[in-house]
Amino acid sequence: MAAYQYETHDYDVVVVGAGGAGLRATLGMAEQGLRTACVTKVFPTRSHTVAAQGGIAASLSNMGPDNWQWHMYDTVKGSDWLGDTDAMEYLAREAPKAVYELEHYGVPFSRTEEGKIYQRPFGGHTTQFGEGPPVQRTCAAADRTGHAILHTLYGQSLKQKAEFFIEYFAIDLIMTDGRCTGVVAWKLDDGTIHVFNAKMTVLATGGYGRAFFSATSAHTCTGDGGGMVARAGLPLQDMEFVQFHPTGIYGAGCLITEGARGEGGYLTNSNGERFMERYAPTYKDLASRDVVSRCMTIEIREGRGVGPDKDHIHLNLSHIPPETLHERLPGISESARIFAGVDLTKEPIPVLPTVHYNMGGIPTNYWGEVLNPTKDNPDAVFPGLMAVGEAGCASVHGANRLGSNSLIDLVVFGRAAAIKAGKIVNPEESAAPVNTASVDKALDRFDTLRHAKGGISTADLRLEMQKTMQSDAAVFRTDKTLAEGVKKMEAVAAKMVDIKVTDRSMVWNSDLMETLELTNLMPNALATIVGAEARKESRGAHAHEDYPDRDDVNWRKHSLAWVDGNKVTLDYRAVHLDPLTTQDEGGIDLKRIAPKKRVY
Ligand code: FUM
Repeated sequence: MAAYQYETHDYDVVVVGAGGAGLRATLGMAEQGLRTACVTKVFPTRSHTVAAQGGIAASLSNMGPDNWQWHMYDTVKGSDWLGDTDAMEYLAREAPKAVYELEHYGVPFSRTEEGKIYQRPFGGHTTQFGEGPPVQRTCAAADRTGHAILHTLYGQSLKQKAEFFIEYFAIDLIMTDGRCTGVVAWKLDDGTIHVFNAKMTVLATGGYGRAFFSATSAHTCTGDGGGMVARAGLPLQDMEFVQFHPTGIYGAGCLITEGARGEGGYLTNSNGERFMERYAPTYKDLASRDVVSRCMTIEIREGRGVGPDKDHIHLNLSHIPPETLHERLPGISESARIFAGVDLTKEPIPVLPTVHYNMGGIPTNYWGEVLNPTKDNPDAVFPGLMAVGEAGCASVHGANRLGSNSLIDLVVFGRAAAIKAGKIVNPEESAAPVNTASVDKALDRFDTLRHAKGGISTADLRLEMQKTMQSDAAVFRTDKTLAEGVKKMEAVAAKMVDIKVTDRSMVWNSDLMETLELTNLMPNALATIVGAEARKESRGAHAHEDYPDRDDVNWRKHSLAWVDGNKVTLDYRAVHLDPLTTQDEGGIDLKRIAPKKRVY
């Protein structure tokens, strides 16, 4: 057994991750007087939420008529009818409240002439239950909305005396008699080990975009929460649904916000044609992301891509007045110059659909409580464990997320988790003793990896995984590519036992940390490709060329994936069809959100 000393910290709540969801949960917990630790592998304001540009969706009606039912309808349609109705209602109803709270906490939103929060159009957000023109629902702080939110929430959390453990890497969950009792972490700058013994553990570790070769996600987006949950024997949900953002910069992969199209930008092919008019006559460039990404891919496949290799598309903004670009989109002007070498006031930006978001994740209810579904109880809660933000799957995004529904998901469900924890965590109760057996198990795994003397480096194996996922779990999928992808990924994952770590140090050991991250990416990637291979329909971001239609009879259900080594076991659970409130109680008319053909 590995002999590591560790320091124990007793808390009511430990939150792992300090992005938008982690910070909103941390703040909410601390505000209620819960002793709250936030453990994060990067400095809070460097979390990937900082890269969120375009904004946060809420039906404030600042720019014209809007209401939560229209927002809910758009979210249901965006999800291609895979989202849970109760969770989507909760999101749309709570969104305005959550945004006004952010405003009062101090988020420096852009303003209208009258001083209201500025809102811009975003893809798939409409009026009149999809019958009216696009709505301006996305609340923006120029094109740095995530940055503004993170800084505000971090400051507020400090004010509420939340305690931050910065540059601590969470190794594994501590599991005690069927409940989670905290997390084991490695302090990166001095090599010490820390046990956070907590009554509630909240995973807010973000997505796993780095399972793919080209992603808008930061290098830190390694699905650490999903990895820990999978190792603990709990399932991941709806992992086959991976969002490609239409406008990643060609080659670099950095995000050019959908807000660019919201402010009037448009896509063209090599004929200079605004091709989205052909595919989505009503909402054109503001159709939902999965639709736009597929249309771009078709244009390229059919030989109408731009550039010497005809392998990308142009995003045009040069017709927008420079003062508007300067005021509304200052960040992307800089990104276009640095990463594409273009002056967007004069030239189009070369763009390509790029992996951006994971709709799937750790299954939760709309309070953020992690689910451990059984045949008898598909909504069974796993005690002591919550997951929020991109790490979790509530599920509001279903098969495809609408742009700007991500930031609102972070704050609505971060806040919901805090409300729930305030009810079920008793700060008066003394902490249970540390489960040393579970801690030792985590440290044994850590030690094995630290001394791994195999034949393949972490960087090489990670690249194999990324290339496989990129080519075989792409925008369009077929039975053939998916079956090959499953085989390849099983072989790639099997090589984990042959991993080579060359640096044995406990201090600032990036080789070991990246290896730990790879052990988290791998189960996420495996669950994604196996779930995709099994799903014989097309829905949202899962575009299956052999099954081009959505099949609600057989496939309107969530996938659940248990990952053990390089093997995945799948099962399914029903989508929640019941709303939170009936129409008589002021809820939505269910006929409005009944499944239908999804056109934009
Ligand atoms: O395009 C964007 O600004 C990204 C927003 C989002 O993913 O919600």
